[in-house]
Amino acid sequence: MTDNFANRAADWDQPSKIEMTGIFVEAMLEKINLQQHWKALEIGAGTGLVGLQILPKVKTVVFEDTSEAMLSILKQKLIGNEAVEIVHGEVFDYTKQDVDFVFSCMAFHHIEAIENTINHLYKIANQGAIVVVGDIRTEDGSFHHFEPIPHKGFDTVELSGMFEKAGFKVHSTDTYNTLKRERTPGVMGEYEQFMLVAEK
Ligand SMILES: C[S@@+](CC[C@H](N)C(=O)[O-])C[C@H]1O[C@@H](n2cnc3c(N)ncnc32)[C@H](O)[C@@H]1O
Repeated sequence: MTDNFANRAADWDQPSKIEMTGIFVEAMLEKINLQQHWKALEIGAGTGLVGLQILPKVKTVVFEDTSEAMLSILKQKLIGNEAVEIVHGEVFDYTKQDVDFVFSCMAFHHIEAIENTINHLYKIANQGAIVVVGDIRTEDGSFHHFEPIPHKGFDTVELSGMFEKAGFKVHSTDTYNTLKRERTPGVMGEYEQFMLVAEK
């Protein structure tokens, strides 16, 4: 499994990432009334900046990520008695059909097989489960400095269509934040982040 984040893991937890994930969590908590009995799954959990904020509010969190390096930073933050499961792999490697809540922040654009991922989520989700995906809207590739990545953001109409086709009901795809970062040297760009909320 290729670890595209091997060189980024050690300094991932910078103020900009802490702020970005904080905004995602705040927006998600405004929309979703988390339940203490829920089993949650985070896709592309990275170093746990999002999931560790969710953990006290649910029964357990499954942290899933293809990057061993990112997960090793997460493991350093755990003391050992937390109700967590760590899955080093793709979402397809999680096969138990017991998930009440799925969330993902800025990971979907790194995942090649989006439609298969959504179909798999439908299989592992309990009836009534909620899925929250935060990512960027369609952009020109400058968000990753024109490096090849699976998706240059998402058209939320198209993404919603994939969720609906899988069997989910999509509740909203609101913009929850606008990221500002250098688009090309010396030129700033703005990238809208959407939050898709779906229910099985
Ligand atoms: C931009 S980082 C976001 C990390 C974390 N969600 C955060 O907001 O700090 C994207 C993460 O998705 C992971 N990732 C990439 N492809 C993946 C895949 N196919 N399945 C699961 N995780 C993946 C990367 O390893 C990385 O940790």
